[in-house]
Amino acid sequence: MGTPQIEPLSTTMGADVSGVDLARELDGAEFAAIEAAFHRFKLLRFPAQRISETEQIDFSRRFGKLQVHVLDQFRHPRHPEIYVLSNVDRETGRTIGHHPDMGTLTWHSDLSFQRQPALATILYGIETPAVGGETQFADMAAAYDALDGAMKRRLDGLRAIHDLDVSRRRMGEAPMTEAQRREAPPVNHPLVRTHPDTGRKILYLSRHVSRIDGLPDDDSEALIDELMAHATQPRFVFGYRWRPGDVVMWDNRSTIHRATAYDTSAERRVIHRTVVLGDVPV
Ligand code: SIN
Repeated sequence: MGTPQIEPLSTTMGADVSGVDLARELDGAEFAAIEAAFHRFKLLRFPAQRISETEQIDFSRRFGKLQVHVLDQFRHPRHPEIYVLSNVDRETGRTIGHHPDMGTLTWHSDLSFQRQPALATILYGIETPAVGGETQFADMAAAYDALDGAMKRRLDGLRAIHDLDVSRRRMGEAPMTEAQRREAPPVNHPLVRTHPDTGRKILYLSRHVSRIDGLPDDDSEALIDELMAHATQPRFVFGYRWRPGDVVMWDNRSTIHRATAYDTSAERRVIHRTVVLGDVPV
């Protein structure tokens, strides 16, 4: 099909990739161009795609091993690698009138609650709202660079505890089952990690952070709030407005993201998500 065309989407991050059909297998040159753009822009959009579940899985697997999510209630019934983000009832075809996963509305990096968190997330927008339901991204490498020297020294060596059960309870979500808790116990990760491909330092924050290891509760909470407020200033954020057929992929090591609210009774939002596993953060 030729070389993909890559056009920056904003001055912060992101690029549009055209001239590729994700329903077919990419050749080596196409894949290399996409991978290079992924490292450079952190967020890629492939507009106007039409892909089946299997084609999404095959494309995602080019980047690495896929996650089967611990929250089995969100898994696609025939393709467990696909996590279904949907406000539409599968049986009745009607909107359910509430947000299917409140946690996605707060800033996070996917699977940061695992020892081996996400490298990339790939979303395929099947039905997308006309108003709201955007996905916003914050550039955590730029946010780290902009910290002053004293803060960088303070963060050096600190580790944060990430706990899915705590983050779900905070959002008023149903508690995890015993089996899910056993599969996803709390883990700790460095608060500043180094990107394995670009070598850049990154602030590694997420809604799954329950506390900073070794700090008193108040200090831990104040530091998390201060860093999150710093990293999500408009100068580091890019808001992405969905159109049906968009495939969007991002680097979870160097960005955090959240969905924005929408009218869950009037609007339909059905998105298929695959997540590629990454390295243990260092
Ligand atoms: C996610 O948090 O992985 C999904 C974000 C979205 O629904 O926009």
